[in-house]
Amino acid sequence: MAADNPLRVVVLISGSGSNLQALIDGWQQQQLPIELAAVISNRPGVLGLERAENAGIPAIVLDHTQFPDRLGFDTALMEVIDSYQAGLVVLAGFMRILTTEFTRHYHGRMLNIHPSLLPKYQGLHTHQRALEAGDVEHGVTVHFVTAELDGGPAAIQARVPINPGDDAASLAQRVQQQEHIIYPLAVKWFAEGRLRMRDGCAFLDNEPLPASGHLIGGAAPNVP
Ligand code: GRF
Repeated sequence: MAADNPLRVVVLISGSGSNLQALIDGWQQQQLPIELAAVISNRPGVLGLERAENAGIPAIVLDHTQFPDRLGFDTALMEVIDSYQAGLVVLAGFMRILTTEFTRHYHGRMLNIHPSLLPKYQGLHTHQRALEAGDVEHGVTVHFVTAELDGGPAAIQARVPINPGDDAASLAQRVQQQEHIIYPLAVKWFAEGRLRMRDGCAFLDNEPLPASGHLIGGAAPNVP
């Protein structure tokens, strides 16, 4: 993507927006060939909106409670996103189940980050579930979004060892450090035209990625 024609990215959030901040930082440090065109939150008053405003990015609230049903909200959301001519939609802690109309509309140009080594632990409470299962490692996955919740092809996965004495909070904190590395990297690769989804698979530099996506980390688990 030429520097004078950067990829227009719209970020969807519901909360603190630390992943959004990682993207803002990369963008401001000119490490990402993108334009952060808008940030949209389905919840008013969240910290992520403040982060966007501080960076001079249009910060929009589209409150899902003001819509009669899921499709009504998603349709309005598509209209707002498309008004910013987004080439990529980035879900960064966007806590909504999406309609198939929505996922179809952004097919191949929407990414999500999920705090587990997908396909393990789709859905919520992933850190606690990994601990309860006695796993020795956990992690985070950036994936393309398809109609299946947390189910689209993986782009990048970072592994995090589970240490003795970890609780959900300590584990979540170490996973988040990795989130802030791999999400900007995935967005960069997409903006550079290196990362794509075709025929239901993720490709990097025209090579199909493994089911895990591109792997980062994987330090030996620290077990006695
Ligand atoms: C992250 O843990 C991400 O993996 C999950 O939601 C959380 C969002 O955190 N999808 P933040 O709002 O980016 O701080």
